[in-house]
Amino acid sequence: MSESPLILGLETSCDETAAAVVRGREVLSSVLASQVDVHARFGGVVPEVAARAHVEAIRSLTHRALRDAGVHPVDLDAVAATRGPGLAGALMVGFAYGKTLAWALGKTFLGVDHMEGHLFAPRLEYADYGPPAVVILASGGHSQIVHMRDWGDYETLGSTIDDAAGEAFDKLARFLGLGFPGGPAIDRESEGGDPKVVSFPRALADRPYDFSFSGLKTAVTTFVRRAHHEGSLPPMPDLCASVQEAIVDVLVAKTFNAVEAVGAPAVAGGGGVLANRRLRERLQAEAKRRGVTLFLPSPAMCTDNGAMIAAAASFRYERGERTAPDADIDSSMYLG
Ligand code: KG4
Ligand code: ZN
Repeated sequence: MSESPLILGLETSCDETAAAVVRGREVLSSVLASQVDVHARFGGVVPEVAARAHVEAIRSLTHRALRDAGVHPVDLDAVAATRGPGLAGALMVGFAYGKTLAWALGKTFLGVDHMEGHLFAPRLEYADYGPPAVVILASGGHSQIVHMRDWGDYETLGSTIDDAAGEAFDKLARFLGLGFPGGPAIDRESEGGDPKVVSFPRALADRPYDFSFSGLKTAVTTFVRRAHHEGSLPPMPDLCASVQEAIVDVLVAKTFNAVEAVGAPAVAGGGGVLANRRLRERLQAEAKRRGVTLFLPSPAMCTDNGAMIAAAASFRYERGERTAPDADIDSSMYLG
């Protein structure tokens, strides 16, 4: 059996510059330059600022990934970079850098669908992970439920009709004065809180796989303003736990609607929101109850990283796929 290809994966679709060297399921290195501090003072990701920060970080980060892996660039089989979806200016940095590096080294270049990267992430940590499976993808930019029928064969069963789940966390945390990024802040604040104190609406009950989170924002702001006025505002941990529960509830319910509908034996997750402790707990409990295997990546593998891009690229490489030198980014790429 021939050895798996040695791949450098680059990820610059949003606010993290990431690079990793992967061979098969083995992550030889994975490094990250987070822009959280840069964007925090604006309360959200500023596209122009993100693109500039990627430009500043990409070269040294790539060198660090290669050095940490003990790999010389000439030994690589391919260079991969995220092609989309994401912020156009941000995507362009990693894509152009990766394409140029591959060209200079005389190596294969692969442009990777960021969402396919999330689908491949669990493979780096679980030897027995694979299709068929239902995968819940939830981050700052996307919320979707995918039926992975086979590697490379995906059907998107549902997605958000307005805000992404991470966006809901971020907007609500901002409203509650908890800073950016909001997901980890609400996760932290919820500790010890009672999720039953306030019952916020669970939207789109009539659509089994779709999400809507913009109504929750209105419900929370209306509730908080009124409660504040009446002097009946619940303690912050209870309020946060209730907000978190409203988001987690629908993510779990709709994921398992899909599991049941397609008869999937396995469920997996990806995207920053899957780092949420309550969501992980609830997915674990539900999977156990139904006798379905759960492949939940470690929190660092849920959030954006270069290893998942290399993992998806590895599959594409072994199928003989190559990305043409004149290919461009596709910021609105859509999986399945
Ligand atoms: O996948 P990701 O790192 O980047 C993209 O948006 O693609 O996801 C970031 C999102 C942010 O909205 C952040 O608030 C959310 O994931 N997030 C969380 C947690 N950690 C990150 N949401 C809830 N709980 C968390 N622990
Ligand atoms: Zn992502």
